Amino acid sequence: MAAAVTVLCAVRGVAETDVVLALGAPGSGITVTRRCGDLAELLAAGAAGAGVVAVVSADLAGLDREAVGRLRTDGVRVLALAHDATPTEHLRALGVDAVVEPYDDAALLTAVRDAATAVRTGSDAPAAALVLGRGGAGGSHDDPPSEDGRARDVDAEGAASRDGRVVAVWGPVGAPGRTTTSLELAAALGGLGSRARGRHGRARREVGVARHDDVLLVDADTYGASVAARLGLLDDAPGLAAVARAAGQGALDLPTLARHAPVVGGRLRVLTGITRAARWPELPASAVEVVLERARELVEWTVVDCGALVEADELLMYDTHAPQRNAATLAALQAADVVVIVGTADPVGIQRLVRGLEDLRDVPVPVAGERVVVANRVRSSAVGARPEAAVRDALARYAGVDDVHLVPDDPGGLDAALLSGRTLAEEEPTSPVCAAFEGLAARVRAVTAAAV
Ligand SMILES: Nc1ncnc2c1ncn2[C@@H]1O[C@H](COP(=O)(O)OP(=O)(O)OP(=O)(O)O)[C@@H](O)[C@H]1O
Ligand SMILES: [Mg+2]
Repeated sequence: MAAAVTVLCAVRGVAETDVVLALGAPGSGITVTRRCGDLAELLAAGAAGAGVVAVVSADLAGLDREAVGRLRTDGVRVLALAHDATPTEHLRALGVDAVVEPYDDAALLTAVRDAATAVRTGSDAPAAALVLGRGGAGGSHDDPPSEDGRARDVDAEGAASRDGRVVAVWGPVGAPGRTTTSLELAAALGGLGSRARGRHGRARREVGVARHDDVLLVDADTYGASVAARLGLLDDAPGLAAVARAAGQGALDLPTLARHAPVVGGRLRVLTGITRAARWPELPASAVEVVLERARELVEWTVVDCGALVEADELLMYDTHAPQRNAATLAALQAADVVVIVGTADPVGIQRLVRGLEDLRDVPVPVAGERVVVANRVRSSAVGARPEAAVRDALARYAGVDDVHLVPDDPGGLDAALLSGRTLAEEEPTSPVCAAFEGLAARVRAVTAAAV
């Protein structure tokens, strides 16, 4: 006889007894191994391997995306009992495996068995929620459940309105220009400089009419967020933390994302970063990945200013559930269609860039995006005569990079932009740095177009 399916139960109120009795009915092939009073107890039971399926109330206190992710990491599938006050989409956004109508014992047993089978066969489809049961409270209105009570996929509901691209801008320590590159790349993708160039007719003719896309700049640097200060925005309302919180609760929709990401010029929106570095636990990967998914629906380009560090916190490696300080950066690198890697064009910066490119191969998440290497602040005063050739040679020789993108040094222009709280594209559109970032934008467009 097959071993009984072990179930952890964390159901609130009077329904709890009914659920436990239904699951434990003779011949069900199911054993309720723990009746958990709260989420902490459920997580502990999951971590201890006490069950392979969890049946939870939709309104279980503290149930969020991070908690569901933890259970799934521990090999526990999560079934949520639908609840009037918690729309199915919310539960789906939390990452639960299925939503089951309450008081439908047949559907519950089917869902538990299906989940246990999925655990056994190791089929780890992304946690797309399925709705099982009679319909009614908590169910979707326009997509009734099938008659036999089996699953129906509701993942196709919220079809994306756009399919935007994510660009992660990363670079080693030493302020190589990650934020400057993120900001100016975002401005170039959004055609922000072209209006300003209109005032300088010659420059406009040179570059032709820039393409204008909707762009979102996300400050995900958990060590030194600076986009808000750089653009002179109020920094007491970290947009990214707010939308990450909503994402963690399964409540991040496009209007919420748009509300926290104001337009700062042209078609450029900004999600500001955490105001104090100590707030990094507010940006767990499970939430940031949802933010980036939503962003793809909101805008054509999402540019993420990443922190410099990419390793997993080593002291915490034994604890796979411990929050990771670099989680937001790692989530961006994993999600990115293009990873822009920025280094400074001087002897120290190039050496760090070469090592950084190696480090990027060892990050604890898969990074599949196309890589574009940028050497910033190319100047002869730091590398001698013919600095472009020197930088190209060094990167080809030591890192095997033969198509580095060069950005010249323009301290006066960048300082003026900093002083005015604007992008360089708006402040000094004729700066050669702007032309270099326009070129980078064209390159990013080209590599993503080629990748389709
Ligand atoms: N091409 C450039 N020419 C001149 N100055 C530049 C250039 N790029 C960046 N800078 C200046 O270098 C400084 C650091 O740039 P930035 O803040 O973009 O680096 P970062 O890598 O984001 O640093 P942090 O580690 O603080 O996040 C800023 O003062 C910026 O204006
Ligand atoms: Mg920065």
